[in-house]
Amino acid sequence: MSTKEQDLEAYLSANSKPESQVLYELARYTNLNTFNPRMVSGHIQGKLFEMIVHMVNPKRVLEIGTFTGYSAICIASALSDNAILDTIEVNDELEDTARTFFDKSGLSSKINLHIGSALEIVPKLPFTYQLAYIDGDKREYPNYFNLVLPKVEPGGFIIADNVLWNGKVTDKNCNDLHTKAINEFNQMVTTDTRVDNVLLPIRDGLMLIRKL
Ligand SMILES: C[S@@+](CC[C@H](N)C(=O)[O-])C[C@H]1O[C@@H](n2cnc3c(N)ncnc32)[C@H](O)[C@@H]1O
Repeated sequence: MSTKEQDLEAYLSANSKPESQVLYELARYTNLNTFNPRMVSGHIQGKLFEMIVHMVNPKRVLEIGTFTGYSAICIASALSDNAILDTIEVNDELEDTARTFFDKSGLSSKINLHIGSALEIVPKLPFTYQLAYIDGDKREYPNYFNLVLPKVEPGGFIIADNVLWNGKVTDKNCNDLHTKAINEFNQMVTTDTRVDNVLLPIRDGLMLIRKL
């Protein structure tokens, strides 16, 4: 990140309500103890999720890609009474950390953590959702969309993270599997007549999708 981008990020944080103490601790823990701490959503995007959950007021939310649990806690913190988040993480080494911080946040009762691949778990979940957040393996985004859309109720929303993939999506020389899959995902969503969508240049790109 350039100094100008860091200054802007600091300005955004300074002019938004601070993250809770538990989220601050989780971000710090993730930075010190995981190989790819940049995967964490972070303060501003986490706040945005809280706001969206308050706006949509979903009864059930689905998340693909728990990681250490930052976005899950943001989402769960804004859920109304009796509303539930199903969050799926394929890496079982992250389970203890996520559960520890879910407990610390006091939100464990609202969060169902499923360990395993979303590609296997999503088809088996016997629920429908008003909101889904896709943030797993970028190469699997097209598959996630095909699996998640039938589970989302009409009028419900899907949000997908990293759809700009650090700007690689517009670089014709980037032919790696991640970039190709993100481009395929963005195209399939935009041409799908069952949904409305807008791509927002927030952080690494957020695709907002509404099921018609
Ligand atoms: C970008 S991180 C998620 C960050 C998290 N949402 C947050 O804001 O802190 C992506 C996570 O998706 C997980 N993942 C990758 N493929 C998956 C799959 N098929 N099913 C479930 N989780 C998957 C990875 O292990 C990783 O922890």
